[in-house]
Amino acid sequence: MKTIVYVGTSLDGFIARDDGDIGWLGQYESQEVFRGFAEFMDTIDAVVMGRRTFEKVLAYPSWPYRKKVFVLSRTMTQIPENLRSKAAVVSMLPGELLTYLASQGFSNVYVDGGKVIQSFLREDRIDRLIVTRIPLVIGRGIPLFGGLDHDLRFAHLKTEVFANGLVQSRYERIRD
Ligand SMILES: NC(=O)c1ccc[n+]([C@@H]2O[C@H](COP(=O)([O-])OP(=O)(O)OC[C@H]3O[C@@H](n4cnc5c(N)ncnc54)[C@H](OP(=O)(O)O)[C@@H]3O)[C@@H](O)[C@H]2O)c1
Repeated sequence: MKTIVYVGTSLDGFIARDDGDIGWLGQYESQEVFRGFAEFMDTIDAVVMGRRTFEKVLAYPSWPYRKKVFVLSRTMTQIPENLRSKAAVVSMLPGELLTYLASQGFSNVYVDGGKVIQSFLREDRIDRLIVTRIPLVIGRGIPLFGGLDHDLRFAHLKTEVFANGLVQSRYERIRD
């Protein structure tokens, strides 16, 4: 089982404004960024996201995922009817969820949403980080990273520079 984070952040490390706005990210999108994300999506077989990220996705003009989506929530009981074949709601700790997904045959899981990524990192359940940094400082917002009980060492795999000054870096968790 591999878990991968693929996010865009401001230069100061935020994934969205306090109110969840990500419009500032969209201004920097380009064909190569779209292509890179599409290639990444081909490598995974399930998406795990937080309820707040899911609610944001619901506002998109159409459902963007071809892979099965698992929405983590302790408050949401149902997925909208039109999406029930594409998404499911789950309430488990990161380790429990990964054991469940492995039992269902999934092996490469994309983990998305600030709180969710932070809870997976706290349990040391993230194997790969792909972070695209946008050259914009927004001052405050929802952070990518949060508190940890101990340091997590990652190896740098690759950094690419895209149009509009986007810098994408890939890291792999080193476990002794
Ligand atoms: N820049 C990027 O690449 C990027 C990527 C992803 C998301 N975003 C943005 O980030 C924002 C959302 O991030 P966020 O940090 O606010 O929220 P989030 O991580 O998407 O969702 C948090 C919610 O997930 C649920 N949750 C988390 N861990 C859980 C667990 N172990 N078991 C059960 N439920 C759990 C809880 O829902 P309940 O309260 O229902 O219990 C919690 O309130 C959105 O604006 C989204 O658009 C940006």
